[in-house]
Amino acid sequence: MTATQAPITHPTTHQGIVDFVNEVAELTRPDRIQWCTGSDEEWTELTQTLMATGTFTQLNPAIKPNSFYAASDPIDVARVEDRTYICSVDPHDAGPTNNWMAPDEMKDLMRGLYAGCMRGRTMYVIPFVMGHLDAEKPMFGIELTDSAYVTASMRVMARMGSHVLERMTELDAEFVPAIHSVGHPLEPGEADVAWPCNDTKYIVQFPEERAIWSFGSGYGGNALLGKKCYALRIASVMARDEGWLAEHMLILKLTSPQGVVKYVAAAFPSACGKTNLAMLKPTIPGWKVESIGDDIAWMRIGADGRLWAVNPEYGFFGVAPGTNEHTNPHAMATINKGNSVFTNVALTEDGDIWWEGLENPPAKATSWKGEEWTPESDFDSSHPNSRYCTPIKQCDILAPEFDDPRGVPIDAILFGGRRKTTVPLVFEARDWTHGTFLGATLSSETTAAAVGAVGVVRRDPMAMLPFIGYNAGDYFSHWINVGKDNDAAKLPKIFYVNWFRRDDEGGFLWPGFGENSRVLKWVVERIEGQAAAVETPIGHVPTPDSLDTEGLDMSRAALEAALAVDPEEWAAEIPQIQEWFEKFGDDLPAVLWTELDGLRARLGG
Ligand code: GDP
Ligand code: PGA
Ligand code: MN
Ligand code: MN
Repeated sequence: MTATQAPITHPTTHQGIVDFVNEVAELTRPDRIQWCTGSDEEWTELTQTLMATGTFTQLNPAIKPNSFYAASDPIDVARVEDRTYICSVDPHDAGPTNNWMAPDEMKDLMRGLYAGCMRGRTMYVIPFVMGHLDAEKPMFGIELTDSAYVTASMRVMARMGSHVLERMTELDAEFVPAIHSVGHPLEPGEADVAWPCNDTKYIVQFPEERAIWSFGSGYGGNALLGKKCYALRIASVMARDEGWLAEHMLILKLTSPQGVVKYVAAAFPSACGKTNLAMLKPTIPGWKVESIGDDIAWMRIGADGRLWAVNPEYGFFGVAPGTNEHTNPHAMATINKGNSVFTNVALTEDGDIWWEGLENPPAKATSWKGEEWTPESDFDSSHPNSRYCTPIKQCDILAPEFDDPRGVPIDAILFGGRRKTTVPLVFEARDWTHGTFLGATLSSETTAAAVGAVGVVRRDPMAMLPFIGYNAGDYFSHWINVGKDNDAAKLPKIFYVNWFRRDDEGGFLWPGFGENSRVLKWVVERIEGQAAAVETPIGHVPTPDSLDTEGLDMSRAALEAALAVDPEEWAAEIPQIQEWFEKFGDDLPAVLWTELDGLRARLGG
């Protein structure tokens, strides 16, 4: 806006929203402000704008209708954990696992970055709601962004548009103000680049204010602010204050051949199998999986004392490599319906996309970096964290409960990570507190979903390390309290899984994907008191015979190796857990030390 322009009109009388938009426009100086409606015309206009700037390439409509390809700047491919801050008033509230800066200091610094940063661009105003508009307390947000790519992606990933703004106005609702800029202003006449971003990046949460400021990146987890920033970091703080849980979990519905329904939530770190498990196609006859969510679960104790979960999102933002007709046929069916955005995969000559692990490699393609790629190339066609962004409503196995604002009552929670050694395929916690211990000590090899080294084992509590919006010690206490304050018999049973254990040759011991249905079956049978298990120092592990192995192509020796609990390997974990717990000082709930002592004693230490 320049001073000579007429003041712009706003399609809402919600003063808080109008003030927010005006203040941010005043600071960032966009050329235009566009209030997003969610209409089809808006989608067409956005995608055409993105094609004009070279950000989007339209895919062949005969293969992938209404779908688009984008390649990012190579410096902007994943979440940036070292640039992510929890700016609580008191540094102690951010805890030892988050980056912290005083809120005023961060705001001064970022106001400097934001000053004039939207010059030459459009500021999109995205009214959105995480979860259902008809929830008892709808969880609103307004994202202001200067990125058409982010706006198009938010349309897929969140319920947004005029109907949301109208409800916010009617209710004079509270909302999470979320500012996003790619940090790449355009001088008059300057041409845009295909993927504007900035070397300097900040992903900042202000937990007391419930506000989000993001700068410099266009990547999903850094820029689609409803997702990680709101639905995990900010929501985890709300959940602590209000007595519920905001978790990095998929939600699935499992129906047995007898028609018995169970709901399972599972927390695995980024790129460790949530989306695949959420859409699993069972290999065991008669069992059925339907999806409810693939990344985030908001869970509350219901009037019946059970833990009820909803998926606050509206799309899948899935890891592309490894996805194919065998590993995830339902994801393939979902994206083949079109209306999707593919980022950092390869573009084929017939206007389709390809990635490592997909069937039928093309003779030639353009890699995500724009190089010519052939199956003989000595580099990958796609970035390991390349993603598809696709509407959840297109999923052919979406459970009807997805549309129920009450959500579903969870029967089992799985924690899991990527471990080459030590951790067996599955085991069961003795009780809620032990389950909390398993979650609090979850360990996993780092993946390409975050910038930094890949394959390094780190503790990733409840798969929430990058997403807990407050002191992780207090987060553990919150989990313990959920167990204390509620009827244990009605809470979900807690399990721990590892699909990624390796044999001596480095191959995966367990075939994974659809075969994981065998583990889900064992979980259900444990809940029902039917399946056998051996009590080990770490928890209850299946006997090889208690798993349904009918038709499983795996040797007995391999199965035993996948289930093995090696006391020596576990003894080596103890000092690591000790060191991890010491980080939290007095904030660590004492019962977790008791759990560690118990484990040490059972291992004979
Ligand atoms: P998310 O980021 O947690 O949702 O993880 P995804 O489900 O997208 O999976 C991340 C990567 O792990 C993909 O490359 C998958 O192909 C792979 N993956 C998922 N499930 C399994 C499994 O059961 N076994 C093996 N070996 N790989 C898996
Ligand atoms: P993921 O989600 O868990 O599906 O990888 C994105 C992320 O966590 O960055
Ligand atoms: Mn995630
Ligand atoms: Mn996923």
